[in-house]
Amino acid sequence: SSYKEQYRPQFHFSPEEKWMNDPNGLVYNDGFYHLFYQYYPDDIVWGPMHWGHAVSTDLVHWEHKPIALYPDQNGLIFSGSAVVDTKNTSGFGENGKIPLVAIFTYHSMDGERAGRKDFQTQGIAYSLDNGDTWTKYADNPVIGNEGIKDFRDPKVFWHEPSKSWILTLVAGDHAKFYTSKNLKDWEHLSDFGRTKGAHGGVWECPDLFPLKIKGSDEEKWVLIISINPGAPNGGSGTQYFVGDFDGKTFSTDQTEPKWLDYGTDNYAGVTYNNVPNGERIFIGWMSNWDYARDTPTKKWRSAMTLPRKLSLYEWDDDYFLANYPIETVDKLSNPPLLEQTEVPSGETFSVETNGLNQSEIWLTTASRKFKLLFKNASNEVLELHMDVENRKFEVDRTLSGKIDFQEDFGARKHIAPLIGAQKKAHELRIFMDWSSMELFIDQGLVSMTEQVFPTSPYDTLIIVNEDDEAPILISTVSPMKSVW
Ligand code: FRU
Repeated sequence: SSYKEQYRPQFHFSPEEKWMNDPNGLVYNDGFYHLFYQYYPDDIVWGPMHWGHAVSTDLVHWEHKPIALYPDQNGLIFSGSAVVDTKNTSGFGENGKIPLVAIFTYHSMDGERAGRKDFQTQGIAYSLDNGDTWTKYADNPVIGNEGIKDFRDPKVFWHEPSKSWILTLVAGDHAKFYTSKNLKDWEHLSDFGRTKGAHGGVWECPDLFPLKIKGSDEEKWVLIISINPGAPNGGSGTQYFVGDFDGKTFSTDQTEPKWLDYGTDNYAGVTYNNVPNGERIFIGWMSNWDYARDTPTKKWRSAMTLPRKLSLYEWDDDYFLANYPIETVDKLSNPPLLEQTEVPSGETFSVETNGLNQSEIWLTTASRKFKLLFKNASNEVLELHMDVENRKFEVDRTLSGKIDFQEDFGARKHIAPLIGAQKKAHELRIFMDWSSMELFIDQGLVSMTEQVFPTSPYDTLIIVNEDDEAPILISTVSPMKSVW
């Protein structure tokens, strides 16, 4: 396919056409990374949900597959996860074929219309041909609803110590944990979160997993929870908790929310099950419920973030989750347009190149105050501001291009705190891909993911170094390859 329409990402996943939201069923199996996603095949706005499907061998080049799951008499197919049932605990395996099992939410439109509260339940389906064809379990739903209005987004993983499957789902203002030996019969274990974290909106898309602390052998458990609305810069966003999980309950001293990404466009992200080298790889939906339906694309709507590796850092008796593009992304950069270029203190640097709109930029600097501007011929500008003094980073897309499709999109600057121990120098890595900007400071300790819609491509990069002493080193500005 052409994949050259205005705003079409060149190195991010987007559906060929129509509406997409959350990533679903992220699982590696037998050579393939699966990406299922919330999909409405009939329009470019949200509608009755299916699971769309794509596969990849490296997480950056994708092959589109037919729709995996269709709505049925139990309802629409909302978000969920997938596991490889290696031991055939479900009994779905046949003739030695290992089943891939999807666990998802059924959303009954009839139930909702009738004003009932129990219209979301959990169902399962299995595939014996590595995701190509799916069979729904005959006795769905496997978790019924006792009258909780928001009751969804099951994420399942195998918990070796208890030799059981653990399922996390969200119920409005908290998460619920369940256990099962066979993926069919589930027993409720515990709840978490009514008095912890952010509660400006409904909790969605949970994910629970262990992660080693960088530079140590100690392991902690991370619980990711999306929330809509209530994110620090408006609309939907992703918070996380760091604590312990004993097979039954998740506990943490943390009471305040921590945010995985401070941009406005990284939502409903979850991680892969069953990754061969044990890495924790995250993909998020690069949009925001505030304006997801209104963005100015015509054939399709929205893209996924780059695949990002998660790592956990500890200092001052506190824990922080970093997210940073997986190494495979490094292979997508072409030879640099510019390298090893210094912007002395107090000076402004500018370069014009039509490769800028599909590029990667690396900087390292001890400068405590600087600006990066992406500009086009119509003087539209996306501005990034580093302010070390005030320990913050700002993204200003108020003049970045088309913003008037929705009132909040270009209404104000977005601010991230500079997370991490005080450092002399910082590293910045930025990816521009036609309608998105992803910023990573210090290997992803701070990340900001933002959609932008310049009316013509940004072709000028301007760097204004406002520090009186320290220079900025532009390590590289490189065009990125297209994966389509
Ligand atoms: C998150 C979400 C999920 C739900 C799905 C419906 O974006 O609202 O909670 O399962 O989208 O498409």
